[in-house]
Amino acid sequence: MLSTFSTTLSDTKMLSSVLALVAILPAFVAAQGAVWSQCGGQGWTGATTCVAGATCTVSSQYYSQCLPNSSGGTTTTVVTTTTGPTTTASAPTGSQTPAAGNPFTGHNIYLTPFYAAEVAAAAANITDATTKAKALSVANIPTFTWFDTVAKVPSLGTYLAAASAQGKSSGTPSLVQIIVYDLPDRDCAASASNGEFSIANNGQANYFNYIDQLVAQIKQFPDVRVVAIIEPDSLANLVTNLSVAKCANAQTTYLACVTYAIQQLNTLGNVYSYLDAGHAGWLGWPANLSPAAQLFASLYKNAGSPSFVRGLATNVANYNALSAASPDPITQGNSNYDEIHYIDALGPALTSAGFPAHFIVDQGRSGVQNIRQAWGDWCNVKGAGFGIRPTTNTGFTAIDAIVWAKPGGECDGTSNSSAARFDFHCALADADQPAPEAGTWFQEFFTTLVTKANPPL
Ligand SMILES: *[C@@H]1O[C@H](CO)[C@@H](O)[C@H](O)[C@H]1NC(C)=O
Ligand SMILES: *[C@@H]1O[C@H](CO)[C@@H](O)[C@H](O)[C@H]1NC(C)=O
Ligand SMILES: *[C@@H]1O[C@H](CO)[C@@H](O)[C@H](O)[C@H]1NC(C)=O
Ligand SMILES: *[C@@H]1O[C@H](CO)[C@@H](O)[C@H](O)[C@H]1NC(C)=O
Repeated sequence: MLSTFSTTLSDTKMLSSVLALVAILPAFVAAQGAVWSQCGGQGWTGATTCVAGATCTVSSQYYSQCLPNSSGGTTTTVVTTTTGPTTTASAPTGSQTPAAGNPFTGHNIYLTPFYAAEVAAAAANITDATTKAKALSVANIPTFTWFDTVAKVPSLGTYLAAASAQGKSSGTPSLVQIIVYDLPDRDCAASASNGEFSIANNGQANYFNYIDQLVAQIKQFPDVRVVAIIEPDSLANLVTNLSVAKCANAQTTYLACVTYAIQQLNTLGNVYSYLDAGHAGWLGWPANLSPAAQLFASLYKNAGSPSFVRGLATNVANYNALSAASPDPITQGNSNYDEIHYIDALGPALTSAGFPAHFIVDQGRSGVQNIRQAWGDWCNVKGAGFGIRPTTNTGFTAIDAIVWAKPGGECDGTSNSSAARFDFHCALADADQPAPEAGTWFQEFFTTLVTKANPPL
């Protein structure tokens, strides 16, 4: 029983809109979805048309979104925006040298308006004044934006343009945090596949096109630094789940796709990448450490040791402590019972295998410990609180930054056992229920994250 973490990430991707909240209010409110709001998908009962200037665009069978006309909105859109800087002293040429040291330093992290709007709507639905004020403060804490479908890529251009403008007006350059998450046959060890691409149906070419579109957006804004987490779950699945036929079948494609992603992003000169490395309760088991180090290091070296691949990201969307006061009983048998023990064990193994990796660690929902019944429980863990704030003052030289990779409040998965995407983890005794569809806003869960935040908000 290590981790069945896989499905949580597929569930993270659907950044459902705050307007979905509004849409369950009186019907007349929901006549047309605002820009970025959900406008369709399996089980969706809200508005299916969008306000003027936006078009309802299918992302997957589960999710359609109102995308602004100006930013494209089909999977084949060629980037045509002209908002990028026309004169820049330091336009990347493809043979850049990374800035020395920690890529997070010297930059202001951009706050995505999407999450800020979700949080604002959530706070508006909290009556207790103290809790409401705390909830509102969450809008000022940076999270990562998940680009889990190609249809969402144009919104990256919108964010980068805003981040570029902020950087120019403030005098401190901006940093935008993204998660690259659209592999074909994604979540190969999960019971249900949720990705939009399949290997059997041109998945690798579709993925390369997805990466090309990300690259085209970022290329317009060389003054904005981007930090990317690459493909949560995928490489960890290749370490521990090759006995699953779908993972064995996906192995070559995953490696080709991740290699393409890091190589293409590396040409830009402003994108620092961290490969997802699961968490302590997955690859941190002593038997998995060496195979994990070998896989990451060989992928890195085979890709040409890309200089902007800064290292690995751990605990993405999970609940582990960075440094536990004492081992949670559920970690029994694993000396690497928290993320720092895991990193301290994996880091030297990577270095000796030829990959001198630095780390970032998700602590967004890790504020409260000892609340799970099993280490593999990942779905809407009951009693979770927001954790350590994003910071570069991590206390550990191996760790560049504490980050919030999973936007807290977006649901991990539904507890409705009749729903198409039901996963049993979301109905376990330690899962907060009733939980709505994955990716949609989970108000009660968010409120608990706020009230149990540690350190307090
Ligand atoms: C994937 O590997 C993890 C870690 O060994 C394990 O706990 C999990 O059951 C595996 N998943 C499947 C579907 O075999
Ligand atoms: C946006 O696209 C929709 C659908 O194609 C169209 O009806 C609408 O007129 C467009 N709006 C603008 C402002 O271009
Ligand atoms: C559970 O899902 C089924 C199938 O989608 C749906 O018909 C039912 O209304 C859902 N129940 C609840 C309580 O949401
Ligand atoms: C507000 O929160 C309550 C309690 O969680 C919930 O029942 C209600 O549906 C929420 N309303 C909106 C508009 O989100």
